[in-house]
Amino acid sequence: MTVTAPKTLGKPLPGPTSPSFVQTLYWLVDPLGLMDNHTKNYGDLFAVNSIGPGYDKLIFACHPRQIKELFARDGKELSTPGRFNGLIQPLVGSQSLLLLSGNDHRRRRKLILPPFHGDRLKSYGNTIQTIAQEIFNQWTPGQRFVARHATQELTLRVIMETVFGIAGGDRFDAMKPLLTEMVDMVAEPIRASLLFFPVLQKSWGPWGKFERARADLDVLIYGEISDRRKAGVENREDILSLLMTARDEDGNPMTDEELRDELITLLFAGHETTATAMAWAIYWLHRQPECLEKLRDELSAVPGDMPPMDMMRLPYLSAVCNEALRLYPVAIVTFPRYVEKPFELDGYTLEQGRIILGSIYSVHHQEDIFPDSHAFRPERFLERSFSATEFMPFGGGSRRCVGAALAMAELAIAIGTWLKQGNFALNEPGPVQPQRRGVTLGQKGGVNMRFVGPV
Ligand code: HEM
Repeated sequence: MTVTAPKTLGKPLPGPTSPSFVQTLYWLVDPLGLMDNHTKNYGDLFAVNSIGPGYDKLIFACHPRQIKELFARDGKELSTPGRFNGLIQPLVGSQSLLLLSGNDHRRRRKLILPPFHGDRLKSYGNTIQTIAQEIFNQWTPGQRFVARHATQELTLRVIMETVFGIAGGDRFDAMKPLLTEMVDMVAEPIRASLLFFPVLQKSWGPWGKFERARADLDVLIYGEISDRRKAGVENREDILSLLMTARDEDGNPMTDEELRDELITLLFAGHETTATAMAWAIYWLHRQPECLEKLRDELSAVPGDMPPMDMMRLPYLSAVCNEALRLYPVAIVTFPRYVEKPFELDGYTLEQGRIILGSIYSVHHQEDIFPDSHAFRPERFLERSFSATEFMPFGGGSRRCVGAALAMAELAIAIGTWLKQGNFALNEPGPVQPQRRGVTLGQKGGVNMRFVGPV
């Protein structure tokens, strides 16, 4: 009996043939253009030669059907090696969750996940609301501000309190600018390029400044860990304290270096991302006043003493947050997947050694799932529900975002707190465009706004 192979088996994946440096430049300057054009020309599964050092023979998967397959194959035919994040090692350290692979990664995730769920997470609701209220109280009528700066202030303070357990005092004041310096290193294109070129990492200039900030910050973090060990961490609810008491499967606690690397990782992964998403939601609400009006109607019916976490259950507010995360997802692609054993996807054979990125942005712009996908329309989230691979701002599989619930709580509580009490206006001459900010997708200019006054 002859077995015939599927028609596409062995056939090369479609994709552009332009030289690697052209595709790398395209990816750096206009990542959305690259994904839009290539899906249009080559379909939902395409290959590019390279998008940068270490990212050769790359495949983009753009359809929920393919993403479902990828997540199901995590830990089997696919791995998610930490080496793909090697560039950010100077920032997050070698013991960071982002740099771990295989069993080490799985074990560390088990330690990190509990503080981000259930009652632990609920206890952070009040912290988020208090910080949002303090920021609101500082605005004076007529004041102009950049939305992303306000949301960055909020998310940094939330991380400092919920993750580091530091709410004020000298150590807090000393840490804040150092943390900002470290995160900016990755977000600002020119400085971020130093991460790509180790030969430019000299102890003078911007790299030197970064290294000094890192050394100063390490002194403060190790000081905090040591004080906490002496004083005991009972009755504390911050994530550092919980990680200090956590034990792995062999009963071992995390070392000081592991704790330090994980704190910086959570800050790096959770600060800018959440702030950017929040700034988008604020932008869209003010760009489309009919959406703002619907949200105000919902918020005006909410009692002033409603528990902050209940904001996450307000249907229209949740739909607004989801739609902002859908339209311009802050993380445009998933963590890279590496083919350990060949398998078939959509009729193509993916050979061992290929690297696959799930395109979150392209999935969110599948027109049959999200009609008129470039329009901001929160109602689509009220009209139907979407599967975990149709709407996937936090990725999925073995690397799914650990901070997803915290991020959603921050979005709902901050936006709810601010818009229930204040009137704001956009201070932009035209539409705000998305723009790459290091490894995330941000907005050009950060969204200029004006505080009109209390409601
Ligand atoms: C709107 C805000 C956020 C977005 C859009 C976002 C998105 C993502 C995405 C797409 C991934 C990769 C998932 C994959 O490859 O399948 C990820 C991983 C991760 N995120 Fe988030 N994230 C956000 C907020 C946060 C927050 C608040 C924290 C923590 C405080 C956090 C911590 C992490 C960590 C530690 C990982 C790596 C997980 C691992 O390697 O196992 N993120 N995030």
